[in-house]
Amino acid sequence: MFPATISTDIAEFGPAPVKGHGPGWFGYENHYESVLARKRADKSYRWFRNVNRLAREFPYAHSADEQKKVDVWCTNDYLGMGSNLEVIQTMHKVLDKYGACSGGSRNISGHNQYAIALEDVLARLHMKQAALYFNSGYTANDCALTVIGSQLPGCVFLSDASNHASIIEGIRHSGAKKMIWRHNDIEDLEAKLKTIPKDTPKIIAFESVYSMCGTVSPIAKICDLAEKYGALTYIDEVHALGLYGPHGAGVAEHLDFEAHRNGESEGTIMDRIDIFAGALGKGFGTMGGYIAGSAALVDMIRSVSSGFIFTTAQPPPIMAGAKAAIDFQRSNPDSRMELQRNVRSVKRALIEYGLPVLPNQSHIIPLMVGDSAKCQQVADILFNEYNIYVQPINTPSVPIGEERLRISPTASHTVAQQQHLLSALIEIWDRLQLRTLQDWERDAEGRLKPEWNSTEIGQAVWSNKQLDVVPAVLPDLTILPNQLEDTRLGI
Ligand SMILES: Cc1ncc(COP(=O)(O)O)c(C=O)c1O
Repeated sequence: MFPATISTDIAEFGPAPVKGHGPGWFGYENHYESVLARKRADKSYRWFRNVNRLAREFPYAHSADEQKKVDVWCTNDYLGMGSNLEVIQTMHKVLDKYGACSGGSRNISGHNQYAIALEDVLARLHMKQAALYFNSGYTANDCALTVIGSQLPGCVFLSDASNHASIIEGIRHSGAKKMIWRHNDIEDLEAKLKTIPKDTPKIIAFESVYSMCGTVSPIAKICDLAEKYGALTYIDEVHALGLYGPHGAGVAEHLDFEAHRNGESEGTIMDRIDIFAGALGKGFGTMGGYIAGSAALVDMIRSVSSGFIFTTAQPPPIMAGAKAAIDFQRSNPDSRMELQRNVRSVKRALIEYGLPVLPNQSHIIPLMVGDSAKCQQVADILFNEYNIYVQPINTPSVPIGEERLRISPTASHTVAQQQHLLSALIEIWDRLQLRTLQDWERDAEGRLKPEWNSTEIGQAVWSNKQLDVVPAVLPDLTILPNQLEDTRLGI
């Protein structure tokens, strides 16, 4: 087990307050303990590691011990924009001139040139009339969906079963009716749309890249259905921003790659999407979230949303840094292409060695373990013996029995680092006798399970042609038997 999850040294503060102890009173502390005991029992209790990302050595970090460096293979800062020189220099300049605080909510303190410029670039990124910046991606989804669902009379949400918690909560907070359609199942979506009267407002809420399984939604088909049944489309592109499309606007942009490269947007998928939701703490390496859509929609959310109105705005350097990251990625596709090449070589090598990579079309590599204690054990061995950090993903983020390592290569991982990860995983899988790719691919009767149809891997969002790579020229990550032991010596 690794260090505590709470930052303070509890002993320093003595025992917790005793209010409510004794017969007849409500026992607050006992109640907290019983909630925690339930979390431990159902394996959803969370442990945090002390990981300090090093801006000048991305993707390395140091642990509690500054001398122990670990190679981070689970960051959402996929492109290393959090360490990008232009981003950092911009933030320094704005911080020195305007300070560390925005001074209050935009409602009472006004906004500033950085908020205006950021929202302008966000709207342009998605070719929409307007955008609104929130303090996080979670807040953006929660607030926007709450407003939309509560302001459209009798509105019905059609929500993909694998949607992120922030989408689920936003819909719940709106009080609107919700229908959940099976993950990425267009037929199920259509069956549900058919049951809703024509004059009822309806919103299809979904993501482009699903973070825990890496699946990509059938966006064009969803747009077709939305047009056929008069529904609005609300897409969360949080895990695709910076990574897909000629300008890094996400999968919707990527689907009309050439048109957008040539600056033509009419009739494209991006054009057909009504509302985009995004976050800036992932591919854009900074912080915050947003929605983009028509000017009237954005103004309505700005005017009504409690979670937007009654909170202190992000400090100017954060907004300036976020804009610098977007500007950089809009005109520099190299790192997103490098990232995809790294994903290709790591995925291919893991599969060649029989490690159970769940197939998908994106940059996320879910490596299935299927048991929470073992998943934690693999992560511990990687950290302690190999100086590799990958966070285990357990329930409730994934169903029990589908625990996994969520590996996210970055644009900066070298061939040597990829090889180190691969040899570590091969050794650990062997040591712990974990289920292999073949074990996962087949059901008890030996039939291939549909979700393991590996042909999907060949249909990645980024095509070989767009990346200018053919699988044969990917780096060879072959591990020789005598290298297995060597790699455990560290990085
Ligand atoms: C699909 C999706 N949407 C929204 C969010 C929230 O974004 P943020 O981390 O900026 O709050 C996340 C976070 O991981 C996410 O995975």
